[in-house]
Amino acid sequence: MKKVITYGTFDLLHVGHVHLLRRARELGDHLTVAVSTDRFNEGKGKKTILPFAERVEIVRSLRYVDEVIPEISWEQKADDVRRLQIDVFAIGADWTGKFDFLTPLCQVVYLPRTPDISSSQLKAELDRLQSVQSLLERIHGSELKDLIGVLDKIVHLK
Ligand code: CTP
Repeated sequence: MKKVITYGTFDLLHVGHVHLLRRARELGDHLTVAVSTDRFNEGKGKKTILPFAERVEIVRSLRYVDEVIPEISWEQKADDVRRLQIDVFAIGADWTGKFDFLTPLCQVVYLPRTPDISSSQLKAELDRLQSVQSLLERIHGSELKDLIGVLDKIVHLK
């Protein structure tokens, strides 16, 4: 059995993650995903929307994923590869070259990233929506009536 491993945060699971996991699984017969813990992310200055337990549950539910382990440090990769008898280490091309040091232990593959989607992009979009919402909440009732009046005039302008 050919075993593959990949690492990531997988916050707000999106189609880029799904493509990556499908491609990784296609490289072998068994895919282990190391999902980064909240504490590990904290150390990287990364704050997720979904907590670790939920990210694990979501990733584990995917058909391409056979096993999920926690990613708690940068240094664990070589140990994981040996312990789990991994044949292929796969990760997105944004990491190209960064994990070549694992080549004495296993094959290292950098997979193409799906363009125009990322967890950070989705978080930025949520932030924007939140700002609009708080702006609307700050508008006083009477001002809102004026605003609706103006919008109504614009809409009915011939
Ligand atoms: N990935 C991908 N295509 C994307 C986004 C992510 O192939 N559009 C891959 C990454 O290269 C990585 C894995 O998915 O191998 C998990 O990445 P993660 O950091 O969780 O996803 P991002 O959406 O890139 O998150 P962030 O914006 O926080 O960096």
